[in-house]
Amino acid sequence: MRSIISKAVIPAAGLGTRFLPATKATPKEMLPVVDKPAIQYVVEEAVAAGLDDVLMITGRNKRPLEDHFDRNYELESALRRKGDADRLARVQESTDLATIHYVRQGDPRGLGHAVLCAAPHVGDQAFAVLLGDDLIDPRDPLLSRMIDVRARHGGSVVALLEVDPAQSHLYGCAAVEATEEGDVVRVTGLVEKPAPGTAPSNYAVIGRYVLDPGLFDVLRRTEPGRGGEIQLTDALQTQAVDEKICGPVHGVLFRGRRYDTGDRSDYLRAIVRLASEREDLGPEFRGWLREFVRDEIDGVAP
Ligand code: UTP
Repeated sequence: MRSIISKAVIPAAGLGTRFLPATKATPKEMLPVVDKPAIQYVVEEAVAAGLDDVLMITGRNKRPLEDHFDRNYELESALRRKGDADRLARVQESTDLATIHYVRQGDPRGLGHAVLCAAPHVGDQAFAVLLGDDLIDPRDPLLSRMIDVRARHGGSVVALLEVDPAQSHLYGCAAVEATEEGDVVRVTGLVEKPAPGTAPSNYAVIGRYVLDPGLFDVLRRTEPGRGGEIQLTDALQTQAVDEKICGPVHGVLFRGRRYDTGDRSDYLRAIVRLASEREDLGPEFRGWLREFVRDEIDGVAP
């Protein structure tokens, strides 16, 4: 059952409508989280889990993404002339991370359709999918645990986060059965954005997947679902209810820190938290934050 996973697919072709107008001409994955675009954290996470072949699914605004992971000779030579080795290293970091390939989605017909665009590159090996706007704190590793679960059980593996029931309608939600491992469940069903009060559990699917290549065939047969889009959740539901198709679906319960940078509030939380924890910015920023909370937030009615 052990299979080597070396390929990561990062869908980044969504319209990012929740973040307009910032995302009118810039992909939301390029919005900075402190001083790095969100997508760089995601590529770093893939590389840390041993996946150094990265395929990005891009859309209409693909240029900034490609440019970010490409060399910028003009900037590099300007920094070299100034003797600014620190900034030069920071500029080069994203270029040296991994081998990055790109494929264009054309019309954004949903996450399932974006993943299907990866089929020719991925071939017949299991692969990981990391959503380009979903940040997992590197101190709370998730992907390597999911790869381990796939190696032992085969099939596909999703990442599940327990959410407030009032929030379930914003996510794909999973019906689950316990296994012998405390952080692993068997997924018996999945629903994309269930109507309020109808979610099968409080376990929401978040943006990390390890998928069996057999899922490509399922995606080819999957009709547009919620929002008229081809939903990855619907294809995984087909797999979950019939393990003969391409193995079972398991879920890894994630209890760490995660930020949806496509959501404005979560994006702001990510920046405040990561900036406060930074050695270079943190001390000054935390001081300001303390004063800000004392003077501006406390005492002001909610
Ligand atoms: P979202 O559900 O966040 O949709 O996509 P979106 O269109 O990007 O953003 P909003 O809701 O309009 O603000 C989840 C992930 O799937 C990718 C997105 O780029 C994001 O990483 N995606 C979505 C695609 O690559 N293609 C699609 O057709 C849809």
